Amino acid sequence: MEVRVDLLDKRAQEPPQHRHLYFAEVWREVVVRLGMCGCLACIMPLLPTSTSEIANEGGRRLYSKWTRRTQSTHTTTDKQAMTTEGELVPAALTEDPRSWVGQHFLSVTQLSLPALELFLREAEAMKALVTAHGGDRRMQGRILGSIFFEPSTRTTSSFQAAFQRLGGSCLHVNESTSSAQKGETLSDTVRSMACYCDLVVVRHPVKGSVCSAAGTCPKPLLNAGDGTGEHPTQSLLDLLTVKLELGEITGKTVALVGDLKHGRTAHSLARLLCLFSGVKLIFVSPESLSMPEEVKEYVGSRGVAQREVFTLDADVLAETDVLYMTRVQKERFATTADYDAVKDIFRITPQVMEQGKSTLVLMHPLPRVGEIDEEVDRDPRAAYFRQMENGMYARMALVALILGVPTFHTQSRLS
Ligand code: CP
Repeated sequence: MEVRVDLLDKRAQEPPQHRHLYFAEVWREVVVRLGMCGCLACIMPLLPTSTSEIANEGGRRLYSKWTRRTQSTHTTTDKQAMTTEGELVPAALTEDPRSWVGQHFLSVTQLSLPALELFLREAEAMKALVTAHGGDRRMQGRILGSIFFEPSTRTTSSFQAAFQRLGGSCLHVNESTSSAQKGETLSDTVRSMACYCDLVVVRHPVKGSVCSAAGTCPKPLLNAGDGTGEHPTQSLLDLLTVKLELGEITGKTVALVGDLKHGRTAHSLARLLCLFSGVKLIFVSPESLSMPEEVKEYVGSRGVAQREVFTLDADVLAETDVLYMTRVQKERFATTADYDAVKDIFRITPQVMEQGKSTLVLMHPLPRVGEIDEEVDRDPRAAYFRQMENGMYARMALVALILGVPTFHTQSRLS
């Protein structure tokens, strides 16, 4: 069956109060494609009693068809490319939603600009969905498994909220209560969760560990932070926040501030911003916590303007559109003395904010441990709590794309 998805996409972009029209279109398309003449006499026996039931029935039928089609594609093993050293090469994700289905998401380097545009549209649709209806049931019967071997408030909760708002359910294990305590490897823990779940989310303190575990994971695996490596889903919500706060990302100057040596959110975001033309990056850190060479080389190889400074001075503040603060990561330091020497080096206060643009967007992946005064929370430019909320919409979009039930789709995906 082919469905006029261009028409449906158009309807789906309409305000939520008109969303019943979207489902009505779906219903009509289903009827037509099933070979009915479409006249009232023919359809009448099938019609539920109200327009909204018609709309819901059409949507339900289509969702059920999507689900049947996509469930068989969720096993990843047969799709994975490996290097000659046996390392997993995660698949490129594109503007075609089919390219996301069943894939691992391990690094922002899997993304292209058109892929991000698809993601941003999907995430904005999720925000509209939650605002209008709280969610829907498209993940009904699906289970998300999360394995967190490092502490987390936002990532774990927002993934669970995202899945539950789409009608799915969640399982969670952590290091202290899982069989990791008995010596089980991460890879085996991940494979175990993959037996029970449709999608696995993993955070682990060792850089590269999540990518290694993905090599033997038969279900889509999402990197929720691998030590000082990457935090790619955080970058998705960060970009969504910039888009929602400023309208566009192209041409913006972004200052990444704090512990750039250990800050995986900064590593991922710097790489991802390279997809946007005219972006300028300023890396602000103590000299001992500067951005790793591999990230600077990546940025340089993409021709993106970057500079490194060791003080957050008035010049930097005056030209910055997005000020992205990060925490100095105590847990990554060899000694407390080393940490104490740099922990308070940057602090955003109302006085610092006075030096920024009126349109400045102040972001932070959180948690904060003193680098932003609570007084600053009242400044409308302080976007970090909105950013945190966007994490749920971003993760709703991501899981919908990976499990093949996005709001936005193409005709070819359904045919
Ligand atoms: N931003 C972030 O990763 O927060 P959590 O550590 O609380 O998940």
